[in-house]
Amino acid sequence: MDKTKIIITREEIAKRIAELAAELSRDYKDKNPILIGVLKGSFVFLSDLVRAMNIPVEVDFIRVSSYGACKETSGKIKLVQGLKIPIKGRHVLVVEDIVDGGLTVSFLLDYVKHRRPVSIKLCALFDKPSRRKVEVPIDYIGFTIPDAFVVGYGLDCNEKYRYLPDLCILEE
Ligand code: IMP
Repeated sequence: MDKTKIIITREEIAKRIAELAAELSRDYKDKNPILIGVLKGSFVFLSDLVRAMNIPVEVDFIRVSSYGACKETSGKIKLVQGLKIPIKGRHVLVVEDIVDGGLTVSFLLDYVKHRRPVSIKLCALFDKPSRRKVEVPIDYIGFTIPDAFVVGYGLDCNEKYRYLPDLCILEE
């Protein structure tokens, strides 16, 4: 078992999600938005986020894969599961766990845009701007974090550690 070190506690995450949820509830009031969770990493964040919001929302999921072995991204994004709910004419919020190089999110925003929603915005819980390869507009950011591989709160390394409630650095 690798060693993990907590960098953001579950309490800090919950507090920040409450703030994001309040902001989103204000911005999307009377808009009945569709929140699109990016699987698998965002499942924990999305479930906490929708329950902290105080407006009606709909939820769908999209699944992509890009990662090879744990920390290495293959650079090639594959759509594994597309949307099930029609989004034409709707307000869409893409909910992502973490933005790293930015390729996944830019692929997803293109995929969503093609389906002609009225509006499309991006909410990412964690952002690693120092790793960016392509520019992506993030409308709602939870935490900006340094360049380190992190796990927990839905994030994995080879499918391990997703269940950890805090955000941790994976130590060699
Ligand atoms: P990007 O395309 O480089 O922005 O990578 C985004 C995807 O890579 C995220 O949705 C995660 O699944 C994964 N990822 C990037 N950085 C990390 C990390 O530090 N820990 C776990 N997964 C990560």
